[in-house]
Amino acid sequence: MSSPDRSQSILSQRVRAIKQSPSNYANQLATELKAQGRDIISFALGEPDFPTPEHVKEAAIEAMRRNQTRYTTVDGLTELKAAVCGKFRRENGLEYTPDQISIGTGGKQIIYNALLCTLDPGDEVIVPAPYWVSYIDQAILAEAVPVTVPCLQEHGFKLQAEQLARAITPRTRWLLINSPNNPSGAIYTRDELKALADVLLEHPHVWVLTDDMYEHLRYDGIEFATIAQVEPRLYERTVTVNGVSKAYAMTGWRIGFGGGPKFLIDAMRKMQSQCTSNPNTIAQLASIAALNGPKDFMAERIRIFQARRDLVVDAVNRIPGLSCPTPQGAFYVFPSCSGWIGKRTPQGKVLVNDQDVAIYLLEHANVAVVQGDAYGIAPNFRISYATSIELLEEGLARIKRAAEQLS
Ligand SMILES: Cc1ncc(COP(=O)(O)O)c(C=O)c1O
Repeated sequence: MSSPDRSQSILSQRVRAIKQSPSNYANQLATELKAQGRDIISFALGEPDFPTPEHVKEAAIEAMRRNQTRYTTVDGLTELKAAVCGKFRRENGLEYTPDQISIGTGGKQIIYNALLCTLDPGDEVIVPAPYWVSYIDQAILAEAVPVTVPCLQEHGFKLQAEQLARAITPRTRWLLINSPNNPSGAIYTRDELKALADVLLEHPHVWVLTDDMYEHLRYDGIEFATIAQVEPRLYERTVTVNGVSKAYAMTGWRIGFGGGPKFLIDAMRKMQSQCTSNPNTIAQLASIAALNGPKDFMAERIRIFQARRDLVVDAVNRIPGLSCPTPQGAFYVFPSCSGWIGKRTPQGKVLVNDQDVAIYLLEHANVAVVQGDAYGIAPNFRISYATSIELLEEGLARIKRAAEQLS
């Protein structure tokens, strides 16, 4: 019989080079501890805690009753592509035709397809930090080099035009923008996007992929803009990614979409045809109902998210050693825990980095958060407030007690 080590040599360099998504991992750990009977509060979730709207569920049930349960075109139903074109036109002022639209199994697959179809070994992808964890590992899977650019809290966690200009090399293929941002909640204004666009106009070999997944989750009435809208001269080298997961509370349905130049969308279809084929047919039909249907349920949800955000920001800023700005979008806050680093826990362990902080909170306070290091900015951690006010209050009280026990 071969030893476990020897049999694991079957694993490729490719898979060894990446890590499991740290937020998935933190959640998995929290779920396992809960199953063991521990009273864990998880602030690690990356999905709205609201149900999918009834009319969307009804559309799925109706699709099944009509036996619309077969394969569709690889990159999505024409009807759904038309609904996506309508969404881009109505909400973003962007004109795409259906043959410029790709539908995938979540925005995650769209981003992966776009990277796989454009990157060769050694190509560079500029990823402003803090970033959504998958960008880095997807770029590595495509054998490219992720070039991370730290965006400071004093700049609102946003990439500055000078930083972008400095990061571009002849090997740069993509700039990845994510606004509203996971994990910081930062939203780029029109002017900020224009400043980045001006740099890109000087470098015609650089494309931009904008991940607008949290577009609808904005607070205080702040406006949303996306780069191809702000600078139409970039339209030909922009991929605009969005989806139904966050706005319509449809994370489990797995439908995301992207708009871009036809030749790239064609290449992405070829790639998808050999990997997964079409995304779930029933979920596609439900997504048509989501995109074309009523949006009035959103306002109430946004109001609830905003109240939770205010509660969390206020509570965090009262905890010794933690501080965070008020995020304008998404459902995360990303406090700095620099005031905890170097402190000693009641068990006598010195907190050296934010991973130690996350472990301390899980083991000592029974609260799951994700360490900032996973998002490229440290020492911080991410709190998801996609959970009830009661659990937020209780979890934050636990974090406060944990802070008071450090010496
Ligand atoms: C910034 C960002 N982009 C993309 C995604 C992927 O969304 P989905 O694959 O569910 O469409 C997520 C999910 O957490 C995200 O946070």
